[in-house]
Amino acid sequence: MVIMDSILHTRRISPIYLVAGARPNFVKLAPLVDALRPVECLPFRIIHTGQHYDEALSGGFFQALGIPEPDVDLEVGSGTHGVQTARILERFERLLLESPPRAVVVFGDVNSTLACAVAASKLQVPVVHVEAGLRSFDRSMPEEINRIVTDVLSDLLLVSEPSGLVNLENEGISPEKVRFTGNIMIDSLERMLPRALERRTPERFGLPAGGYAYLTMHRPSNVDQPEVLERLLRLFAEISWELPLLFAVHPRTRSRMEALGILPDDLPATFRMIEPVDYLDSLCLQKNARLVFTDSGGIQEETTYLDIPCLTLRENTERPVTVERGTSTLVGNNSERIQSALETVMLGDYKHASLIPMWDGHAATRIAEILTSTFS
Ligand code: UD1
Repeated sequence: MVIMDSILHTRRISPIYLVAGARPNFVKLAPLVDALRPVECLPFRIIHTGQHYDEALSGGFFQALGIPEPDVDLEVGSGTHGVQTARILERFERLLLESPPRAVVVFGDVNSTLACAVAASKLQVPVVHVEAGLRSFDRSMPEEINRIVTDVLSDLLLVSEPSGLVNLENEGISPEKVRFTGNIMIDSLERMLPRALERRTPERFGLPAGGYAYLTMHRPSNVDQPEVLERLLRLFAEISWELPLLFAVHPRTRSRMEALGILPDDLPATFRMIEPVDYLDSLCLQKNARLVFTDSGGIQEETTYLDIPCLTLRENTERPVTVERGTSTLVGNNSERIQSALETVMLGDYKHASLIPMWDGHAATRIAEILTSTFS
């Protein structure tokens, strides 16, 4: 399971661990790997927990983003929250004991983030949290619990948007631990957008640029209750008569649809279901869409940066800057609110994004500098 570079052992330089487990983590990991590569005094190792393992959710992202193969794969796979978190804890702790790092860097708010922060913290290995301080104030979301616990345990909290600074101050986190480094996802976006646009992804699906809506949804609040999922699918089918809809279906959504007996052939031809797409196709589909429907946190940020209308299928967001200064509108899964926001977009009356501080493509450089000055 563990592959360690022998040079590190002979020189006795312990690396830092960069831990990623699920799709949104990989987008944040890539620019930091690039920024740390030339820093000889701070070697790093990439640890994949294996929370996401399908090519579409994992390998495809590593490839599209040019991330080297992980040094270690904990291969934890899927399970209930308890099972998945426990498995990561157990395997990551074993790795920490066998090969102690100088620090552990965790990203975002997935179960891997929480589990690795807990394991490291208990062994008194410093924890760095990239994308700290975000709060939806909705503890029915597993990610909110992951964010709160990770932040409490972190020794360095690197914040992506202004609300994060306020939240951490309100929670009494010592300001000495907190740095405003900006949004590292935007680094990936800026770097990869030209290549993404070369993909001409909408054409591949027979869709004209600017003439379709792109849909992703996988949150429990939208897909776990059969009546909610069914109502949403019926609504999107109706909308697709006016504006063709491309639906990249996350595996957890697909399994919920299968349980309901809904097959791709049951949907009208204008409402097309496809497999989850890789990072480049995702950017290309967002950039060329008339609008995006999503419950993803990352896509709220990407559409804001791309200035594409984003109707967010949630009642709250941990990324309020995307609503206040960006293109996101919270519509929940309420049919009237979805229809009314859609109408505003179709009439050309929808808001535009303004610049957001520190979403400038240089977050990874700032983070690498902080890591180097702290741990080398
Ligand atoms: C996880 C994150 C969520 C993030 C999302 C992005 C948590 C709590 N949730 O949710 O914040 O927005 O990733 O995708 O960490 N599955 C596969 N193949 C895979 C992985 C999962 O088919 O490679 C299926 C399994 O049936 C699994 C289900 O998807 O049970 C859910 O996977 P899981 O990693 O538990 O959470 P996500 O819903 O992907």
